[in-house]
This record gives sequence, structure tokens and C-alpha cells, in this order.
Amino acid sequence: KMVRPWQTPRPLLAILVTLVALTYQARKKTSISIREVSAEETDSKSTLQFVVDEYNKESNDEYNFRILRVLKILTQITDHLEYHLTVEMWRTTCRKSETMNCVPQEGELHKQITCNFSVFAAPWFEKYKIRSKNCNNG
Ligand SMILES: *[C@@H]1O[C@H](CO)[C@@H](O)[C@H](O)[C@H]1NC(C)=O
Repeated sequence: KMVRPWQTPRPLLAILVTLVALTYQARKKTSISIREVSAEETDSKSTLQFVVDEYNKESNDEYNFRILRVLKILTQITDHLEYHLTVEMWRTTCRKSETMNCVPQEGELHKQITCNFSVFAAPWFEKYKIRSKNCNNG
């Protein structure tokens, strides 16, 4: 049986394939792109809307909250897109099912919080998922 000189022995080939795969994985992890984006962009708007809807759905508060100020929006792109949002939210006069004329509460019921959200996003499919949420009284 003739062994062709250009044939790579199988174990060596397996090692090479593994090395290439590992290198690719490592490079994928380090290629992260982070960008600050405007709250006026369509995708930002729908992400903010999703976040506040989810917040109100999960909240035990009798009233809905509303985003009054967007402090920061970062997008992070790795093998997927993630939004990192910092927003100021106020308790409104609207109870859960109300959506009209929701103005900030005044007096005793006044409440303002600052929240950080990380959101997995595929805006082109209108798919979002909250990965983390952190709020404090601000
Ligand atoms: C939000 O994240 C920033 C850092 O990006 C941090 O300084 C701040 O304390 C966080 N706020 C909350 C409410 O978790």
C-alpha cells in the first residue's frame, strides 16, 4: 500500500481541526462591539416600550410606571444583540389596565426609580427578552 506524502495522518488532522475551532471560539469571544445609540432610533423605541411593558407586568405596584428620562442606551453585539438601558421611571396615575393620561404621581404616591435593564433583542423579529433588571430609588 502506498502512502501519499501529502496525506496528513488522521490524529494530526483531528488536532488541527480542534485548534482551529478553539481559535475561532476565542476570537468570537473577543470581538465585541459596544455602541451608544439614540433613544429616537426605532429599535431603541421598541426596546424601551418592551422593557416598560414587562416591568409593569411583573410589578406588584397598583399603578403603572412610565419612562420619563432615558439616561443611556448601549448596544452590545457579539453573536447576538443586547441592549443595556439606564432609564428613569415614575409611578403614574394609571392603574394596571389604564393607558390614557398617565401622568406622574404627585404627593404621597410620588415615586421615581432608576433602572438598568439588559435585554436580548432581535428587533427585526420583534423578539425581546430581559436578561437582567436592577432598580433603585433614585
Ligand atoms: C446601573 O449601572 C451603572 C453602571 O453601568 C451603575 O453605576 C448603577 O449603579 C446601576 N444602577 C442600578 C439601579 O443598578
